[in-house]
Amino acid sequence: MITIQPNSKPWQHLSSSTLNCQLFHVSSETKKLSFGTVTCNSIKDQDNKKAKIKRLVLSQEGRTKLDIRPDKQFYDYPRFVTHVDDKFISTLTSVYREKLRPDTEIFDLMSSWISHLPEDIQYKRVVGHGLNAQELARNPRLDYFFVKDLNQDQDFELESCSFDAVLCTVSVQYLQQPEKVFAEVCRILRPGGVFIVSFSNRLFYEKAISAWREGTAYSRVQLVTQYFQCVEGFTQPETIRKLPGTGGGIQEEKSPLSWIMGLLGLMSGSDPFYAVIAYKNFKPIYD
Ligand SMILES: C[S@@+](CC[C@H](N)C(=O)[O-])C[C@H]1O[C@@H](n2cnc3c(N)ncnc32)[C@H](O)[C@@H]1O
Repeated sequence: MITIQPNSKPWQHLSSSTLNCQLFHVSSETKKLSFGTVTCNSIKDQDNKKAKIKRLVLSQEGRTKLDIRPDKQFYDYPRFVTHVDDKFISTLTSVYREKLRPDTEIFDLMSSWISHLPEDIQYKRVVGHGLNAQELARNPRLDYFFVKDLNQDQDFELESCSFDAVLCTVSVQYLQQPEKVFAEVCRILRPGGVFIVSFSNRLFYEKAISAWREGTAYSRVQLVTQYFQCVEGFTQPETIRKLPGTGGGIQEEKSPLSWIMGLLGLMSGSDPFYAVIAYKNFKPIYD
């Protein structure tokens, strides 16, 4: 088990023999990056039991990428860009506003310099993960972050049942072992915690898995739904689809025609928005 130490501790680099990822603390005062201290205990207790994967969703072929270089190489230099347009981002932020409770603990999986969280809401702790340390260090919402290639190793060095929400934004298409990653997400979520996976139709084509590249908008939603369903412990996933309207604004999808038009790319305007969402064990009801 890896425990993230409180802020007040001096941060030290942990040797790679004890940890196969690097954990950083982002100082709120200086915004400087320093190495994080973590403690390791043996993974024995019941809480740390991995979530069960009931079946594999992808074939070997479905996991392949056109660019077979290590992903770390591809993300070697920082990209301070937004990967989707403003309307997509504002829709996502609204979803977060609705689904995430203030003062809770959040893990932003496959993050960058931006987390799209509502600016006016404070969370207790936001931990980020990604492949580029410079991007993550620039992210104003992150209290901590770590760098790890999830196509090499899918274990998160994070305590079980330690987050209320996990986010994965416009990145799920790059996972070659999504079943194991979703199982890890389930493990680190608290009961009632939510996993929000959002995506559009944009991608780094050569880095996306074949099952995604060769799919349609419809099949991609199905694929992510199956990633949830193959792990024991998630509720039945729900989907939010918001397709660009003819007026250029994002509208909630209403008719079969708008769905078909969206599939065919006949609607002009902004990036289509898809989110697949499920909870660990049960969906909580709040007042
Ligand atoms: C399109 S960017 C999206 C970043 C961020 N979520 C956002 O909304 O701007 C894709 C992200 O996926 C992450 N990623 C891609 N391949 C990865 C891998 N093999 N392991 C871990 N993270 C990966 C990278 O860190 C990259 O920032």
